[in-house]
Amino acid sequence: MPGQIPLIGEKFPEMVVGTSFGRMKLPDDFKGKWFVLFSHPADFTPVCTTEFVAFAKRYEDFKRLNTELIGLSVDSTWSHIKWVEWIKQNLGVEIPFPIIADPRGMVADKLGLIHAPSATHTVRAVFIVDPNSTIRAILYYPAELGRNMDEILRMIKGFQVSEKYGAAIPANWPNNEIVGERVIVPPATTVKEAEERLKTYECFDWWLCHKEVPKEEAEEARKFLERVAKQAK
Ligand code: BEZ
Repeated sequence: MPGQIPLIGEKFPEMVVGTSFGRMKLPDDFKGKWFVLFSHPADFTPVCTTEFVAFAKRYEDFKRLNTELIGLSVDSTWSHIKWVEWIKQNLGVEIPFPIIADPRGMVADKLGLIHAPSATHTVRAVFIVDPNSTIRAILYYPAELGRNMDEILRMIKGFQVSEKYGAAIPANWPNNEIVGERVIVPPATTVKEAEERLKTYECFDWWLCHKEVPKEEAEEARKFLERVAKQAK
């Protein structure tokens, strides 16, 4: 049975890991940057291969968001090296990020990556970690469903805009159905604040107020998403 698994808002657990790029200390080696740790069930499997290519094709987009990538599976470093070699030779795609080898499942155990369908192989998990090593989001996907990397990029961009402007990010931002590219003002916590909200912002009610972010910020986010979507074609 796994112990307590880390949750959103907690610090990413400290660990030394063996990777295809050598030993790394997490989260310290990524201090000052965002990072995405993603696990997959096994090397040399079809959906995982499509995911690796998709992550690699967006590597520069992640870099532009000050974000590093790191993969993980229960396979050995040798297997990772051979798989990455196969991807380069057969699909013409270089994998530019390290992959953690976790053959004894110690990292998987720490992060809660073994779920009911398999006692030995990790699910497709995504941990988004901020520059202060705080876990900001955790996603879990099953073996039969590959992830959407553009959504992971949108999430990181959303976190960065949220922090910069002290706002929350609505559904499907920057193409939200109600407020468009505007962002949500955090809910009032006092009666006085609730009254102020209605005077200061555009609101549907005091608990649903929204504000502009600089046009270029939303535009950049939209262009970024559209460009990434186009690249994927
Ligand atoms: C795949 O990546 O294709 C895969 C991996 C494990 C189980 C099923 C599918």
